[in-house]
Amino acid sequence: MKIGIYPGSFDPITNGHLDIIQRASNICDEVVVSVLKNTSKNPMFTLEERVELIKEVVKPFSNVRVDCFSGLLVDYLRENQAKVIIKGLRAVSDFEYEFQMALMNRKLAPDIETIFLMTSSKNSYLSSSLVKEVAKFGGCIEGLVPEVIKKAIVKKL
Ligand code: PNS
Repeated sequence: MKIGIYPGSFDPITNGHLDIIQRASNICDEVVVSVLKNTSKNPMFTLEERVELIKEVVKPFSNVRVDCFSGLLVDYLRENQAKVIIKGLRAVSDFEYEFQMALMNRKLAPDIETIFLMTSSKNSYLSSSLVKEVAKFGGCIEGLVPEVIKKAIVKKL
């Protein structure tokens, strides 16, 4: 049973994240999208809201579930008997930081592997922060996030 853990802030989930979830669901038996209980950032959506919104958009995938975690990612993987971290790469600019985290996670847990999946090029410029910024200033976010997320952002603003 290959469990892939896809960690992130998901504030909120975008079509880029969904793209990665879909790809991961094709190669893992089970994918757990896990939201970081992040105390240092100032999120638009609470942890509970983010989890509920993700649950809504991953409904079409039968092997994907949603959870949250705090502390070290590798400890969370161990608690879940998982050995695979799923990460999305949009562009070369993501690589340096992701590579650094992957090597640190490997140092902490040599038996855990990080697998990088590439988003489709149509999503390569997408980020949660950009989507929030565009929405905040009244720009169109059509096609960047699922409809339910778009509604949730509009409601927040
Ligand atoms: O969506 P994000 O904010 O880029 O996700 C970052 C995340 C959650 C993957 C990363 O911050 C993380 O793994 N945090 C858990 C703490 C941890 O294990 N830190 C050491 C990893 S090098």
